[in-house]
Order: sequence, then structure tokens, then C-alpha cells
Amino acid sequence: MYSGYAGVAMVRDLNLTVHAGEIVALLGPNGAGKTTTLLTTSGLNPVMKGDIRVFGRSVRGRPAHRAPREGLAHVLEDRSLFYQLTVAENLRLAAARSKGDLARALSYFPALEPLLGRRAGLLSGGEQQMLAMARALTSKPRLLMVDEMSLGLAPVIVERLLPVLRRIVDDTGAGVLLVEQHVHLALEVADRAAVLVHGDLVASGTTAEIAGRAAALESTYFGAGAGAETGAETDADTGAVTDTGAVTDTGAGAVIDAGAPTGAGARPDGPEADLDELEGSR
Ligand SMILES: Nc1ncnc2c1ncn2[C@@H]1O[C@H](COP(=O)(O)OP(=O)(O)OP(=O)(O)O)[C@@H](O)[C@H]1O
Ligand SMILES: [Mg+2]
Repeated sequence: MYSGYAGVAMVRDLNLTVHAGEIVALLGPNGAGKTTTLLTTSGLNPVMKGDIRVFGRSVRGRPAHRAPREGLAHVLEDRSLFYQLTVAENLRLAAARSKGDLARALSYFPALEPLLGRRAGLLSGGEQQMLAMARALTSKPRLLMVDEMSLGLAPVIVERLLPVLRRIVDDTGAGVLLVEQHVHLALEVADRAAVLVHGDLVASGTTAEIAGRAAALESTYFGAGAGAETGAETDADTGAVTDTGAVTDTGAGAVIDAGAPTGAGARPDGPEADLDELEGSR
């Protein structure tokens, strides 16, 4: 699919599938189009060309507010909390909207329990991220999209939050599409990864495959200042996955998609979301 703003494509030719029960990390430097991809999947930004299917249904013409009812939850980059309201009120609002299960959502983030009466605006960054995720979980999503969970958080906090995603996936069978700047941490928790650069998918595969090429990908695409540009933590971790040997082939255009097919037979229980480029305009 293609997506962008004011008629200019910022994501081009993206073909990506998230299956039930797996975590897919969407990686890439600033401005690559990661957020645009999630916004378009939610229906907050229109598809320019091609299509995105969530649980087999096209997002074209589906208003964004219907997404949660269809089992899609999206934790936005800005976390979208009601900062004047308490933690409990934030959770109750989300649960009411989706007729959801508050206790279950809270069970993944017990650290929020003593904070239920505190205004969301007073929480630490990590606590706010937990609240944003707990809000998303109240709707019992079958596909959870999390944008920059680590934004502004110390890597040690991120390291604590990411395994919760794995628990959610294991417990509920949901699929997760995780946008992350901390490449090394994301690759630890994800099953598959895709790398977007300037709107183009330049690599995708299992995390082992991507980790094996991380050195080459990072030096070529993430550059020295990738983390610093957003003011996020500079990622000291990214060097750790390089031992497997740098690959000179950066694979631009070569490794696209682990077989996300457009054809029949792919779907019934399979792909939760197809971000699927179709040839030609529609
Ligand atoms: N509302 C908008 N109007 C016009 N251009 C936009 C808009 N939002 C994003 N863009 C542009 O689209 C491109 C992709 O942006 P996007 O936010 O998807 O990147 P990203 O990969 O999420 O980056 P980051 O890691 O910095 O969050 C960028 O060039 C950005 O400037
Ligand atoms: Mg972004």
C-alpha cells in the first residue's frame, strides 16, 4: 500500500503481514514512515493506493472510531491520555468505550494499581506508557499496534515493558505491530521485523535474519544520530547485535516480505493485517 500526506506518498509499496500470535517490529530511522503506516492501518490517515486489510476487511471506508470494535488497538506515539483525569478514570473511559475488561488490562501492569487515584499528568513517562497500553488492552484487541513505546524512556524501563507484550501475545493470541527505535531491544522481543527507510521497505524477515544484518542496516540507514534526532535515548544497545557479522548487502529491495500473499488461502486464520500493495492505482 501507499500512504502519505497531501498527495505525497511517504510510504511506498509496503507489503507487510502481522499474523495472530506474533510480534512484528517495524524499525527505521526518523521520518521513515512508521507512524504513517500505523495511522493508515487505524484509518486515521487514508490509504493512497493499494489496501490494508485488518482481519480480512479493508480499512478503506472504515472510520477510525470503528477500529477498536473490530479488534484493533493503537497506542499512539503521544500516548493520548487524559492528563487531568486519574489513572482509574482514564481506564474506565477506555473500558466503557469498548465495553472492555478493566481488571484484566490492569493485571498486566500491577504497578498502576497503587496509582489509580493519581492524575495521569503526574505519572512518570514509564507509568504513562503502561497506562496507555492498559487502556488499549481494555478492548481485548486481536491486533495491538504500539508506536514508539520507548519514546523518552530509559532503556531499563523499556526492557521491563517489552516482555509484557510477549505475555499479552501468549495469553491472548493477539498479533502485535511494534514500532521501535531501540532496535536491539525490539529484536529481542519480536518474532519478525521489517525495516522502513524513507518510505521504502528495505528488509524484512525473522528477527534472527534482521539481527544478522543489523550492523549493515544500522550503519547504512540508522546512522549515528538516529536516536538523538527525536531527543529519545541514544541507543547504546544497538551495537550488541553486530557479532553475527556485517553483511555488505544492505538488501535494498531484495528481501521484501516473508510471503505476504495477496492470493486466496492465505487468510482464514492467518494474517491479521495485510498491508498489501496492489499493482496499479485504485
Ligand atoms: N501530517 C503530516 N503532514 C505532512 N507530512 C507529514 C505528516 N506527518 C508526517 N509527515 C511526514 O511523513 C514522513 C513520515 O513520517 P512518520 O511520522 O511516519 O515517520 P516515522 O518513521 O514515524 O518517524 P519517527 O521515528 O521520527 O517517529 C516524514 O517525512 C514526515 O515529515
Ligand atoms: Mg513515528
